[in-house]
Amino acid sequence: MRRGSIVQLLALGVLIGAGATALALFVPWLPPVASKERERIDFVFWFTTAICIGIFALVASLIIYSIIKFRVRPDDDSDGPPIHGHTGLEVFWTAIPAMLVTAIAIVSGVVLTKNDAIPKDHLTVDVSAQQFEWTFKYPTYKNLTTGYLVLPRGKSTVLRISAVDVIHSFWVPAFGQKQDALPGSVNTLKVTPTKDGTYPVICTELCGLGHSLMRSEVRVMEPAAFDAWAKEQLKKLQAGGSNAGLAVFANNGCGGCHTFTPAKSKGTAGPDLDKLPAEARRANRGSLENFVRESIVDPNKYIEPGFQPNVMPTSFGSLPKDQLDALVQFLAQGSNK
Ligand code: CUA
Repeated sequence: MRRGSIVQLLALGVLIGAGATALALFVPWLPPVASKERERIDFVFWFTTAICIGIFALVASLIIYSIIKFRVRPDDDSDGPPIHGHTGLEVFWTAIPAMLVTAIAIVSGVVLTKNDAIPKDHLTVDVSAQQFEWTFKYPTYKNLTTGYLVLPRGKSTVLRISAVDVIHSFWVPAFGQKQDALPGSVNTLKVTPTKDGTYPVICTELCGLGHSLMRSEVRVMEPAAFDAWAKEQLKKLQAGGSNAGLAVFANNGCGGCHTFTPAKSKGTAGPDLDKLPAEARRANRGSLENFVRESIVDPNKYIEPGFQPNVMPTSFGSLPKDQLDALVQFLAQGSNK
């Protein structure tokens, strides 16, 4: 090969490599990064992408160069020279990809091991999935139960994920990991948040009509703020009365579907809770409290005219007793004024 040809080939390779690198770097392909695990996963992603760009530049420049340089001239009717393969080249293009694939496997193995390692000092949160909502329970904070996830920054959290009804899957794009939520078994996922902020929690397994709406959010905050939040919630619950009930109502997102003046909520997807006494009379369930409790624990038993069964999740029935009691009191007393 003449020196001029080598320079042309190299220039072509650099040009194509630079174009592919610009496409990789200047288009925001990935969601924001908010966990240590995600940072490691991104490292594997970019490591693999860099290898791909190198191979793409090599192959594309050789093909383009050959198409231009060795194309058939208009007056050339002769056969091409016979080719019997090239042992050196074949060894080269087998050995190099084998080494690259092995390197990717080793890097991936290291990242997977690190991402799965659970440090002794960690927070545990139970995650429960149900058509079509997420419930988060904090065993170390007296089973405080919320419809959104709050995590301290910089501390590893082990999520124990399961499902009540069908298969769902837990996904926070900013954390870079997915984990299936299965009925009857518990899958774990370790997350170490690195950046304060609010990020979407998404169900990423087709689980029914409301699948695309099965969203929640995770709020990452500094450890002191997390501790203050959890203690504040527990204080409200321990105080009892309407403050405790209001906290449970708000934590579990009841206002998203229901109107209830004492909670200042205006949802209209479910029955108006300000009219609970009239609804209890229609349902004929004896006391108002009994009716409210049954409607939370077994929501399909009585369906208010004008509404559909199987819309209200049954998971609130598994609220810890003190939180369920507080919610029942809050609803029964607040609507009976
Ligand atoms: Cu739950 Cu999709």
